[in-house]
Amino acid sequence: SKITYIDHNNVARTVEAPEGLSLMEAALQNMIPGIDGDCGGNCACATCRVDVNEEWMRLLPPVSPEEQALLNIIDSKTPQSRLACQLKATPELSGIVVHTPSGQH
Ligand code: FES
Repeated sequence: SKITYIDHNNVARTVEAPEGLSLMEAALQNMIPGIDGDCGGNCACATCRVDVNEEWMRLLPPVSPEEQALLNIIDSKTPQSRLACQLKATPELSGIVVHTPSGQH
């Protein structure tokens, strides 16, 4: 799947991610700025927040209670905010565009 990350300076980087890899792991493997992933993808740190482009929102899996609890502690979150470790690369999501913050909280 192709994933495009747009950083806080509006620089877009598109990477190819194998199916099943999370958008957090794909970001770390490709040295995408703005994603930390401190907890290793266990939905426990909230340092993998991204903002998903509006048109892709409805294709995403629902927010779990654990993810929602972490999103709630991010002051700068938006309605498009998701945790990248909870989003997996799939053929349906190929082409997804997400924005990364200047830094995680
Ligand atoms: Fe920790 Fe996503 S990597 S919550």
